[in-house]
Amino acid sequence: MKATIAVLSGDGIGPEVTSQAINVLQKIASKHGHDFTFNEAPMGGIAIDQFGDSCPDSTIRTCEQSDAILLGAVGGPKWSDPAAPVRPEQGLLKVRKHFELFANLRPVKTYPVLASHVPLRPEFLDGVDMLFVRELTGGLYFGPRQDQGDGDTAYDTELYTVPEVDRVAHVAFRAAQARRKKVASIDKANVMASSRLWRRTVIKAHEDYPEVELEHVLADAMSMYLITRPASFDVIIASNMFGDILSDEASVLAGSLGMSPSASLGSSKFGLYEPIHGSAPDIAGQGKANPTGTILSTAMLLRYSLGLEAEAQAIEQAVEATLASGARTADIATRGSSYISTTEFAQTVLSNL
Ligand code: IPM
Ligand code: MN
Repeated sequence: MKATIAVLSGDGIGPEVTSQAINVLQKIASKHGHDFTFNEAPMGGIAIDQFGDSCPDSTIRTCEQSDAILLGAVGGPKWSDPAAPVRPEQGLLKVRKHFELFANLRPVKTYPVLASHVPLRPEFLDGVDMLFVRELTGGLYFGPRQDQGDGDTAYDTELYTVPEVDRVAHVAFRAAQARRKKVASIDKANVMASSRLWRRTVIKAHEDYPEVELEHVLADAMSMYLITRPASFDVIIASNMFGDILSDEASVLAGSLGMSPSASLGSSKFGLYEPIHGSAPDIAGQGKANPTGTILSTAMLLRYSLGLEAEAQAIEQAVEATLASGARTADIATRGSSYISTTEFAQTVLSNL
């Protein structure tokens, strides 16, 4: 198969992890007879430096001419002055919105070999395997906002429409059908009008999936249940903001924020794939970054945008084998013991492919 992949490496550790992920995709291509073309484009802080714009139109064009986007991470202290007129994160939000990538899939599972890295007793981790479906193009991130600029008043708005909630709810229910058939819908329906709309829309969408069990969980309680009974969850559907917060919390269960991949999808096969971690400027350029989240994101890319399920599983198995062999990047190394670099870890994944 021929495919074109836009690569937005971004800032901080972004370029280090995406270059390793490209190596993995290239090895898959040569092993399985595919032809992947990679087109790099600037986005984030690096684009602000070059163009004064976190996501120039040329980058959008490159993405439009691709089958999928592979993204590293954006942001860093250089661009985080609160008074700055442009911010790296705006570029990422623009890409998500431009392509209407409304469903962000974030799988979280535990790796028994990393159990000692999770600050929970091992018996809580048994069977943890969940999929966050985070709404990605609405809510607080995109609702009306205003900073009066007088230093006195600012607001953001949690605004959702029924169609916005309905389409992402269907993604969650369909995902649950192929899994353990359970959906937990997160809201604050005890306080927020937008959450009551969210809840009734999810209940309505659920009518099409009688075999799926639906529970409603208040967001504050969910932050507790993710620690007290994480294995009880299968698919979790949440608004943009609640999903952002709770998926970072859940990623701890995988042993490190560096382990978790994500896929952002719209209504076609086109998608954006990125690790859920950020640009980690404190460790950038030191070979300490864990490329696993980005490498596993390429597996999701193959699965959802290119329909290459066997190749996706080959990558996931190579990552498992790498961890089983004891290879560890800095973030998942046992305290005091040695670890290998980003490149060495990725090379082990390659040799396990
Ligand atoms: C994420 C990130 C982004 C978000 C930032 C970088 C805009 O935290 O992908 O979770 O808040 O969505
Ligand atoms: Mn986040």
